[in-house]
Amino acid sequence: VDLTSANTLRLPCQAERYVAPKTLSALQHVVREAVDRQWHITLLGGGSNVLLPAKLKGIAVRPAMQQWWLESCGESVIAHVGAGVNWHSLVMTLAARGLWGIENLALIPGDCGAAPVQNIGAYGVELKDVLVGVQVVELASGNVRWLSADACQFGYRDSIFKKSLADKVVITQLALRLSKTPLPRLGYGDLAARVAASANCLAVAQAVCAIRQEKLPDPQVLANAGSFFKNPLVSSDQLSRLLQAYPSVPYFPQVNGQSKLAAGWLIDQCGLKGMRQGAFGVHARQALVLVHFGGGDRCELLQFAEYIAHKVYDQFGVELEPEPRLVQA
Ligand code: EPU
Repeated sequence: VDLTSANTLRLPCQAERYVAPKTLSALQHVVREAVDRQWHITLLGGGSNVLLPAKLKGIAVRPAMQQWWLESCGESVIAHVGAGVNWHSLVMTLAARGLWGIENLALIPGDCGAAPVQNIGAYGVELKDVLVGVQVVELASGNVRWLSADACQFGYRDSIFKKSLADKVVITQLALRLSKTPLPRLGYGDLAARVAASANCLAVAQAVCAIRQEKLPDPQVLANAGSFFKNPLVSSDQLSRLLQAYPSVPYFPQVNGQSKLAAGWLIDQCGLKGMRQGAFGVHARQALVLVHFGGGDRCELLQFAEYIAHKVYDQFGVELEPEPRLVQA
């Protein structure tokens, strides 16, 4: 099965087998069959945050459960959402109903089931801020389990699903807590300048869409996987040294005393924005996004990324780490 159009970077990938079960029981059936036949399972969502290899052994599984419903809970509403629901359409639907909580996460590509894996975040909000828990299916048994948000061990672009539960469970449903009371979070970047403090939830989501559309390439038009590197964390000592040499370096202090730097700024300062090498390039309007012009593969992309990371390390002494998931062949 050709998965080239199933990943937004359009990296060429041939999978031995591919299924997209639409119900929990169909997914459990697939998992149990894979266990019986000793097929390796590769989990996929919308394909917007993965680096796929040219050949994929075993079976690729994309949960496609589309059901979602709302449960009233005092001033909150709990949204129960199937893993296969498109994240952005959920954001817009809930925002249009005046349910606050995920409007800053508009236009993030991909499926709901993948959102907890990297704890998606943008404009000062992360999934962990609203997640109550997730339903998962164990890949060893096909059995269903629930995990609370605490048990998910969320961090910046990180969770237990990238650590001890990597390749152990598939997320099948999310429970999100939304607020009927207005709860605008306009503190990041120029969001407050673009939308009034009294704006409704949908207006905030639309402002976020407008900002993203100005900077981020549409994967339908130019293949990419959003930010290619994580924003690096540095110690306060390292930050002071950087500030002496580069007084304008943008940084975001963290609760633990470290600071998060903007990888896009670092790459931009190295003069790499808009550069192209073979099939890949650094996006002209957001240096953190690598784009694929066509004809390249994962190997070439990783070499290009390494070249960029080297340049940044040479100039700033800061290491960059890729953000999308490197899928095993
Ligand atoms: N910057 C530059 N040049 C660039 C890009 C950025 O100077 O080419 C500067 C900006 O001017 C700004 C700072 O870097 O001062 C931060 O830029 P921006 O607000 O665009 O955000 P980012 O740090 O590059 C992160 C997330 C994005 C998320 C935005 C908004 C990561 C790895 N990326 O990007 O998430 O949308 O913040 O919250 O944390 C993604 O994960 O795929 C993603 C797009």
